[in-house]
Amino acid sequence: MLNIALPKGRLGEKVYAMFEAAGFECPSIKESNRKLIFENQAVGVRYFWVKPSDVAIYVERGAADIGVAGKDILLEYEPDIYELFDLDIGKCRMAVAAKNDFRDDPQKTLRVATKFSNIARNYYTSQGRDIDIIHLNGSIEIAPILGLSDVIVDIVETGTTLKENNLSVYETIVPISARLIANKASYKFKSEPIEAILQSFARMAKEQK
Ligand code: PRP
Repeated sequence: MLNIALPKGRLGEKVYAMFEAAGFECPSIKESNRKLIFENQAVGVRYFWVKPSDVAIYVERGAADIGVAGKDILLEYEPDIYELFDLDIGKCRMAVAAKNDFRDDPQKTLRVATKFSNIARNYYTSQGRDIDIIHLNGSIEIAPILGLSDVIVDIVETGTTLKENNLSVYETIVPISARLIANKASYKFKSEPIEAILQSFARMAKEQK
């Protein structure tokens, strides 16, 4: 059995469709219910829906052999996994944003609100900039409006959230997209199905170009 962790939500259905096209179909997954685990013994596959930010944990610890996780999560948590393929979906960017009238004063410690503390720390360390990280769990955009922080480090997709809160992108840190990841031991011991999926994803990507 190949265990696959799928990200619940926006991306999940697109991702499952790619696995289905690769020959690892599991029709029961399309039934509308609250079940989280689905398997198709005939093709030897078991899928489970997990929170997108948890996919890498399942894969790193071997509860899933493979999975699909955003590059943001991989950069933030640095899990010990193999990153096999860029699916080129779920595209967005990690950016620094601030109020439209923000002017940076390099002499001052920069107050940065974010859900992505590790990414923010690494970015500003590479810039040699002193920062004070304010770790939040959501609604990051509020922080500069209320004067809690000078800037935020967050995901920007369409830019609508920033715009509607009178914020704008100040710097782009890194582009983000969904990645196929594998548990290191599974990659060795279940190489056949994993390789088949990888080849099929690569073929689909080529055909789309
Ligand atoms: C993300 C991010 C922004 C928003 C950006 O939040 O934190 O708030 O999407 O998207 P946009 O540029 O298209 O407006 P998400 O919806 O993933 O949920 P969150 O509140 O848990 O961060």
